[in-house]
Amino acid sequence: AQTQILKGRRVLITAGPTHEPIDPVRYIANRSSGKQGYAIAVAAAAAGADVVLISGPVNLPDPKGVKTIRVESAQEMLAAVEAALPTEVAIFAAAVADWRVAQAGAQKIKKGKDGAPALELVENPDILATIAKRATGRPPLVIGFAAETEHVAENARAKLARKGCDWIVANDVSPATGIMGGDSNAVQIFIKDQEAPEAWPAMSKTDVAARLVARIADTFSSST
Ligand code: C5P
Repeated sequence: AQTQILKGRRVLITAGPTHEPIDPVRYIANRSSGKQGYAIAVAAAAAGADVVLISGPVNLPDPKGVKTIRVESAQEMLAAVEAALPTEVAIFAAAVADWRVAQAGAQKIKKGKDGAPALELVENPDILATIAKRATGRPPLVIGFAAETEHVAENARAKLARKGCDWIVANDVSPATGIMGGDSNAVQIFIKDQEAPEAWPAMSKTDVAARLVARIADTFSSST
């Protein structure tokens, strides 16, 4: 059994995709399975943390021993995250939709003689950046993810700076890797003010989660 390396620490995790409504029956979504975020929630709870998992729509059961809050859209996810603060660690593993439909229909949009409707999109809030840049109540350790299909390192570095977070867990999600929706993952951890990333070998998402939890526990034992 894992030791209680995060005992009593409060950890927030976002996971899964968001669904952005077009009308009451249709939505914009993405292929995130939620597996990596859920695995981190399970690992953090096993390490004794007090875990809040804020999840978009996924086909996974609520993990045992984890407070799971289900949301649909990015705006709902941000509100749930803000309501869950303060926490010592915040891990943003969700694949939040970048855009939502400006005016979602109150009724189902009907097919008509005018052809296809034009959907106007507006930007969603960046949940990670919003929390990482909070003037007060910022979690001491804010971790983002970067799912990239090319230029992984450049994109991860830029994201660390732009979003104001402490770590970026970067992975290559090109279709050929099978990572998106699959059970294994190969990540690099980019740490603010640390030149070289920590590159972890390919392993299961469960093992990535356990190792991430151990790495987080290390930062607490070396700083407090
Ligand atoms: O910019 P990009 O979407 O690649 O950044 C990914 C990171 O930012 C992830 O940690 C993701 O959870 C977070 N994010 C967010 N809110 C958004 C977009 C991304 O929290 N609207």
